[in-house]
Amino acid sequence: MDTIYTWYGHATHGLKVGKHQLLIDPYFNGNPAASQKAEEVSADFILITHGHGDHVGDTLEIAKRCDSLCISNSEICAWLRKQKLTTHAMHIGGGHEFPFGYLKLTQALHGSPLPDGGYGGNPAGFLLNTPDNKKIYFAGDTGLFGDMKLIGDEGLDLALLPIGDNYTMGPDDALLAVKLLRPKKVIPTHYNTWELLSQDPFAWKERIEAETETEVLVLNPGESLAL
Ligand code: NI
Ligand code: MN
Repeated sequence: MDTIYTWYGHATHGLKVGKHQLLIDPYFNGNPAASQKAEEVSADFILITHGHGDHVGDTLEIAKRCDSLCISNSEICAWLRKQKLTTHAMHIGGGHEFPFGYLKLTQALHGSPLPDGGYGGNPAGFLLNTPDNKKIYFAGDTGLFGDMKLIGDEGLDLALLPIGDNYTMGPDDALLAVKLLRPKKVIPTHYNTWELLSQDPFAWKERIEAETETEVLVLNPGESLAL
């Protein structure tokens, strides 16, 4: 079974696990960094880390069109169900076996109000163990936290980490995060979407690869990686 990761720009991710198409935080329309329009993508499953507009994104449009199953915390799922979407509610620390693998919600240090001001519960990250045993960690929007070491103890093949600073970890804390997580590969995200999030991912790559065993992959929006 092949697992293929795609970065769509900002914190918008795609993952194809066998025949299952996942989108994580599908923010396309209005995303200055996006490589596609929402109308051009499809999803069997949509995973949402938290309620911010740049993460809920185009969930409503895509999920209605594709009849996707939306997976998030129980508060965000309740909000999506009010809009007639199909959901699977979970919460931090809990995992569930889906057709695309065992998915666990992890903590994230951030906020989570929904686009209409509704209560979006606690923000989360996702730890996925695919059927072909690939371990992938989507940190979501978060600051650095020491328990990343416990997530790293799982033995990660790939980590998706924000480096944009201001709203999330910046390059310095993301370097410490890599030291705790010890993934085989890391892809930086949540940077250069707007002026406020300006970062040099190649400078960050040099630092990481000088100080850790982790390989840094700097993708262009729309670029994919087979795991
Ligand atoms: Ni956010
Ligand atoms: Mn964000």
